[in-house]
Amino acid sequence: NQLDNNCIAIFGASGDLTRRKLIPALYHLYITEQLSASFSILGISRTEYSDDAYRARIKDALIESEKLENSEQLDEFCAHIHYQSLNTADQDSYAVLKGRLTELSQQYDTAGNVIYYLSTPPSLYGVIPECLAAHDLHSEKDGWKRLIVEKPFGYDKKSAVALDKQLHRFFREDQIYRIDHYLGKETVQNLLVFRFSNGLFEPLWNRNYIDHVEITSAESIGVEERGGYYDGAGAMRDMFQNHLLQVLGMVAMEPPARINSDAIRNETFKVFQSLHPLDETRLKEDLVLGQYTASDIRGEHMVGYREEHGVDENSRTETYVALKLSIDNWRWNGVPFYVRTGKRLPTRVTEVVIHFKKTPHPVFGQNTPDNKLVIRIQPDEGILMKFGLKKPGAGFESQEVSMEFRYDSLDGTEVLTAYERLLLDSIKGDPTLFARSDAVLACWDFVQPILDITQDNPTLYGYACGTWGPKEADELLTREGRQWRFPC
Ligand code: BG6
Repeated sequence: NQLDNNCIAIFGASGDLTRRKLIPALYHLYITEQLSASFSILGISRTEYSDDAYRARIKDALIESEKLENSEQLDEFCAHIHYQSLNTADQDSYAVLKGRLTELSQQYDTAGNVIYYLSTPPSLYGVIPECLAAHDLHSEKDGWKRLIVEKPFGYDKKSAVALDKQLHRFFREDQIYRIDHYLGKETVQNLLVFRFSNGLFEPLWNRNYIDHVEITSAESIGVEERGGYYDGAGAMRDMFQNHLLQVLGMVAMEPPARINSDAIRNETFKVFQSLHPLDETRLKEDLVLGQYTASDIRGEHMVGYREEHGVDENSRTETYVALKLSIDNWRWNGVPFYVRTGKRLPTRVTEVVIHFKKTPHPVFGQNTPDNKLVIRIQPDEGILMKFGLKKPGAGFESQEVSMEFRYDSLDGTEVLTAYERLLLDSIKGDPTLFARSDAVLACWDFVQPILDITQDNPTLYGYACGTWGPKEADELLTREGRQWRFPC
């Protein structure tokens, strides 16, 4: 696939995301020869740097984070990097940016193709497009223009609608690439291929054969340096409204008629529209919110959420959510989906567990385990199938055994990281793995009533750091004769 030459203009270039994710992703794409023959990167932020000073900074960061040796290849990559200091809120100063982009377009023969990557606080998502438009920098008269934005896409439904309007004032939907990095994960994309390319599983993927579904995204880290942001967001906005619902969309969608962005995103959108709304009565039963509290683990003291830097000492923000939800359509009628996410849990793991129904007559005893398919999104990516086998020896008892596939057994296949894949797709102009406006709003439609009901004084259970969340979350399943899987 021949890619168009292009310039990637990164707003927020002195920030953490640029250093930790974007530049390393671009570097890997470069060394694996997946970028176009001619490309440039223009870092933009308020700080004053010369091109050379910014390049040196990026190079040091790459050497450190990727554990690289200084090399010619690294210098060659860094030579593509340029820098422009800019007061992003000041429209006039964009004249300088325009000059810079024109210069780079000529130097790299990019025909004016530009990706604007907004790696900035969302408060600038309105301002930057407006300033770009004031200088005609959004216009596609010369070359294509694309805009990448990072979550959060709004703080609630109202602000999400307002943000959408702002973005659409200057960019068409097909120019806007909303990053939900979970969609960039290879294992999340595989849900589509796994479900719809296997005659073994496709016929079973519905209410007739599936008893229930678990989706877990656990993190062992706390809020780290992001207490200020997180305290205003909470797990519901930070993880559930976007990442977990996108994963759910892939698990529950109908088969797309074609593999293209419209067909695929139409189907996940329908899932979001079909989520059964949760009212106050159901929420009392089906939602558990938690907040981590201090604990000592293996001699290490872990502070509670309220003692974290930037967090209000009386904070009622949830760092854990467990929710039972259902989907109002034919495929999933009567099948509960249990979804949970939390910080400071025992381990970092994201997985989807499909629990199949038991056989009709328990001829081998009541304790015969159900069949499970564990789709490990991260880490130790792979798929584990658990099924029953005759316990060797006398009698006819069943015991649970496993069959396993692991991605690291695919010798020589390099799996792209989420940012590599998403950056590559945005350069190709393929929006399949980006959140579409209507889908984002449909997710907010589901989440907003939950936020409204819980906002003033949510019932919040404490859980000690390093545990699997409040015990009330276990009861969500045990009261129905089920259990979470506790991966290690
Ligand atoms: C981000 C959240 O979107 O996703 C973070 O803001 C969270 O709070 C992160 O830690 C998790 O991503 P991953 O890829 O490590 O599961």
